[in-house]
Amino acid sequence: KRVAILISGGGSNMVALVKSMVGDHPARPVLVASNDPEAGGLQKAAAMGIPTAAVDHRPFGSDRVAFEAELLKPILAAKPDILCLAGFMRVLTPAFVQKFEGRMLNIHPSLLPKYPGLHTHQRALDAGDTEAGCTVHEVTPVLDDGPILGQARVPVQPGDTAETLAARVLKQEHRLYPAVLARFAAGDRTPILLN
Ligand code: GRF
Repeated sequence: KRVAILISGGGSNMVALVKSMVGDHPARPVLVASNDPEAGGLQKAAAMGIPTAAVDHRPFGSDRVAFEAELLKPILAAKPDILCLAGFMRVLTPAFVQKFEGRMLNIHPSLLPKYPGLHTHQRALDAGDTEAGCTVHEVTPVLDDGPILGQARVPVQPGDTAETLAARVLKQEHRLYPAVLARFAAGDRTPILLN
């Protein structure tokens, strides 16, 4: 299976995914693309020998359709079987999502359905949650919705800030996403629940 990964920033999840696709793994990375030409993950991908592409979303303003039409060019050229959103921070239109429905995954830093959207860790702390975590789900037109393919839980610890909790969750993202991708690429959609 050919995997394209979309990033917006440092790409630590992308690195974990790329490093997992070795040996008899059913998938291989064929493209890392970003909406930010300065995304640190682009250099990391290039250093690992993965083709990269960047389409700056800013010149397109609020015209999501025009931005996505441009972003689609390198993606379609790479002929991916699976699209992984990994720290990708742009909302995709239903039209874009429908092109990849059933073969597009996303990782979200909360135990969905709790806390879709942004600032998930601060919201969990504000709610006094004793547990937090991350979710890998199939992408559907509704933001941070879609069938759950995996979750990993972490304890909230006394004195946690959004930053300390985010760091604890991010470590689990790097375990969960590769595990889900390996299973998904083998055609198995049985959810994975880590600790
Ligand atoms: C992190 O907040 C992570 O929780 C979320 O996207 C952000 C950046 O991740 N999935 P990455 O390091 O770019 O993969």
